[in-house]
Amino acid sequence: MNRPVADTAAWLATARAEAPKHEAADAGLAAIGSAFFTDRARFFDTVLTEWAVAGHRQVVVLGAGYDQRAFRLDLPDDLLLIEVDLPEVLAEKGRRIGDALPRCRRSTVAADVVADGLDALDDTRLDFARPILWIAEGLLYYLTPDEVRTLLHQVGARSTQGSILALDHVATAGTRLPEVRRWLRFMADRGSPWRSAVADPAAWLRPHGWILTDRSTGVGRPEDDDDVVTWLLEAHRQAEEERSR
Ligand SMILES: C[S@@+](CC[C@H](N)C(=O)[O-])C[C@H]1O[C@@H](n2cnc3c(N)ncnc32)[C@H](O)[C@@H]1O
Repeated sequence: MNRPVADTAAWLATARAEAPKHEAADAGLAAIGSAFFTDRARFFDTVLTEWAVAGHRQVVVLGAGYDQRAFRLDLPDDLLLIEVDLPEVLAEKGRRIGDALPRCRRSTVAADVVADGLDALDDTRLDFARPILWIAEGLLYYLTPDEVRTLLHQVGARSTQGSILALDHVATAGTRLPEVRRWLRFMADRGSPWRSAVADPAAWLRPHGWILTDRSTGVGRPEDDDDVVTWLLEAHRQAEEERSR
C-alpha cells in the first residue's frame, strides 16, 4: 500500500472481525472500538437491506475498503452494487476475495474520489434517473471540508429524488475530548489525518439537497455523558422544486 490512508481499510475489517474476541475478554478500549465499528456496520447493513427490500436496485459504496456487504448480506441478485476506492485497495481486496461469488451484481471503480472525482461512475451501468443508495462509511473525515463539499456536490448531481445518502462523520464536539485528541494526533503522525468534522448534521446536509431521516443519530462515549463523538446519518434526496425554494 503506498498511501497510509489505504491501510485503514484493513484496520476496520480487523476491528470488526475481532470484536467478539475483545468483547469476550473485556479488553477495554479495543472492545469499545470494535463494538463501535460493528454497531456502525450494522447501521449501514440495515439501511442497505431495507433499500433492497423496498425494491431499489442501485447502490454505490464510497471508500468501500474491505466492506463485504456484497458477499455477506442476503441481497437480490439483480441489485447493482458498485464499490469505489483507491486502486491499491481494490487490487488487494480482489486478491483476498479470490473467486468468491457476490450475492448481487457487484462491480468496482478504482478512483481517488478527491483527485479523480466521481466521473468514472458515469461509465458504469448506473441509471441516474433512478434512485441510488450512497454509502460512505469511515471515509469523509479523511477529506478536508472543501473536498467533502465537492464530493457531496458530485453525489448530489447524480442523485434523483428518492435517493438516500448514508454516512458517518466525526462530531465537532467529540474532537475536544482528550482521548479523541490523542487519536487525532496519532492519525496525523502516521500520515492519515482526520481533516474534517461536523457540528450540525442537518444544517450541513440541507444546502446539498439532503434531509436527515429519523434514523440519524449521534453516538457518544459508552460510559457517559452528552458528548457526541460520531454521527451516523441517513438522509433522503429532496425534490428539485423543494431545493430551489
Ligand atoms: C477507514 S477505511 C473504511 C473502509 C470501509 N468503508 C469500512 O468501513 O470497512 C477508509 C477507506 O476510505 C478509502 N479512502 C480514503 N481516501 C480516499 C479517496 N480519496 N478516494 C477513495 N477512497 C479513499 C481508504 O482507501 C479506505 O478504504
